[in-house]
Amino acid sequence: MKHNIVLIGFMGSGKSSVGELLAKRLSYKFCDSDRLIENKAGQTISRIFDSYGEEYFRDLESKLLEEMQTSLDYAVLSTGGGMPLREKNMQLLRELGYVVYLKASKKTTIKRLRGDRTRPLLKGEDFEQRVDRLLTVRIPIYEKAAHKIIETDDKTVNEIVAEIIEEWTAIAGKED
Ligand code: S3P
Repeated sequence: MKHNIVLIGFMGSGKSSVGELLAKRLSYKFCDSDRLIENKAGQTISRIFDSYGEEYFRDLESKLLEEMQTSLDYAVLSTGGGMPLREKNMQLLRELGYVVYLKASKKTTIKRLRGDRTRPLLKGEDFEQRVDRLLTVRIPIYEKAAHKIIETDDKTVNEIVAEIIEEWTAIAGKED
């Protein structure tokens, strides 16, 4: 396995804040798939969804993951919440590194995302039903994609990072 940690999970699960601190603590490079896609496309995620639709965005995610297979090492990658949905992406993520699913309860997720204006999949009516429907489909996918599941409710970013580092150190130690 390459020396990468890949964070997956639903929108609002803390992938970016955990990823940034984790990378800092490990002295790894930090990458965020959404930001990389926005930089490459020269447009925000919202604009990409509006102009070209979700499938086009998923294609960009797949392309990015394929490119990373040969270029990414000693990095923490925070992924967009839909990254593991395609079977092929799930496989690529697992080949890229140690996949950690940051799992938040529905209650916490709703609390964190209410009022969000930036995420195209949450726009419109029936916010809670939308989250509920997406979670029902996605939780089994995240669980299947993950090497490790971390429950994040009631934990600080520091605590989550410490938990991941403990796991990662044990794994890296076994490889030596
Ligand atoms: C998405 C999550 C977003 C972003 C896009 C689609 C999803 O990323 O990739 O809006 O399908 O769950 P975050 O999980 O960082 O919000």
